[in-house]
Amino acid sequence: MLADRFGRTATDLRLSLTDRCDLRCAYCMPAEGLPWLPKAELLTDDEIVRLVGIGVSLLGIRDVRLTGGEPLIRPGLPAIVARLAALAPRPRLSLTTNAVGLERLAGPLAAAGLDRVNVSLDTLDPDVFRTLTRRDRHARVLAGIEAAHQAGLRPVKINTVLMRGINDHEAPALLRWCLDRGYELRFIEQMPLDAQHGWDRDAMVTAEEILAALRTRFTLVPEGDQVRGSAPAETWLVDGGPGAPGGGRVGVIASVTRPFCGACDRTRITADGQVRTCLFAREESDLRTLLRSGAPDEAVAAAWQVAMLGKKAAAGIGEPGFVQPQRPMSAIGG
Ligand code: 5AD
Ligand code: SF4
Repeated sequence: MLADRFGRTATDLRLSLTDRCDLRCAYCMPAEGLPWLPKAELLTDDEIVRLVGIGVSLLGIRDVRLTGGEPLIRPGLPAIVARLAALAPRPRLSLTTNAVGLERLAGPLAAAGLDRVNVSLDTLDPDVFRTLTRRDRHARVLAGIEAAHQAGLRPVKINTVLMRGINDHEAPALLRWCLDRGYELRFIEQMPLDAQHGWDRDAMVTAEEILAALRTRFTLVPEGDQVRGSAPAETWLVDGGPGAPGGGRVGVIASVTRPFCGACDRTRITADGQVRTCLFAREESDLRTLLRSGAPDEAVAAAWQVAMLGKKAAAGIGEPGFVQPQRPMSAIGG
């Protein structure tokens, strides 16, 4: 098991396949992009499959989420997914993507064994999309989302980050759009993970503000008793919930104002094979060198377990003494 010193066990692996991306979202990357990792430092397909195999067979990993950068730009992705789906015990497989390449890949990925996708979509307006992502790809993203739904990668989940003065007026419209199509929308509070270090706590659109905006158009009832477990999203039934005509569900991930670190069940591996115990960790543990030095599976598993002992109780975003991690989100994986 991947246990830490605070009684948590990681069963959910976030695995980054590349730090590169074909968009330049303002809350993530500067317009000119970033110095990408050299190819020789990226885990190979074989190394990825071996690491996940160690995770599921020796360490109790049950869920694997493939992330980036943008994972769809990793060459041969469907073949990687097929190999991960063939592991025993088979992990649940999901993908976090910007959907730019999904129209082409949704079918092959579903056929390879991918279970679900989370798509980043911050706006319904092509002009806002171009401002926010610095690329003209809105139509392709919408087509990609539709293709995922058609390919049976359901429920399609949509992740939205609101930025003040850019897309924060769109919360109700985005929810209506998702409800009408059977997609599950989750708003994520903007976190200090941008490469430019431009995050400002006071400029951040808070979960409370998002809920207030949604309540101008919808009736929201907290789902269950809001015991989140390890699921970071607190969810609300919208206009009578999924059973009601026009109703559904919405989630808000209040990573900053209501952090869920106490129930975190995640472990992360970067595209260059470093274990990170948290998005906001200041330290990493190198598994790539170990893999390449011919270490047996048991030694790699043991190093991963030791790494998890360094997991902090909480990320402490915005608290005094908080220091943003060196790596930006795109090099960590979402
Ligand atoms: N804060 C919150 N969410 C972010 N994402 C990327 N950068 C940030 C940030 N600074 C989101 C993306 C994607 C997911 C991986 O995380 O929009 O949906
Ligand atoms: Fe790319 Fe995701 Fe970063 Fe946007 S948030 S630039 S889609 S990695």
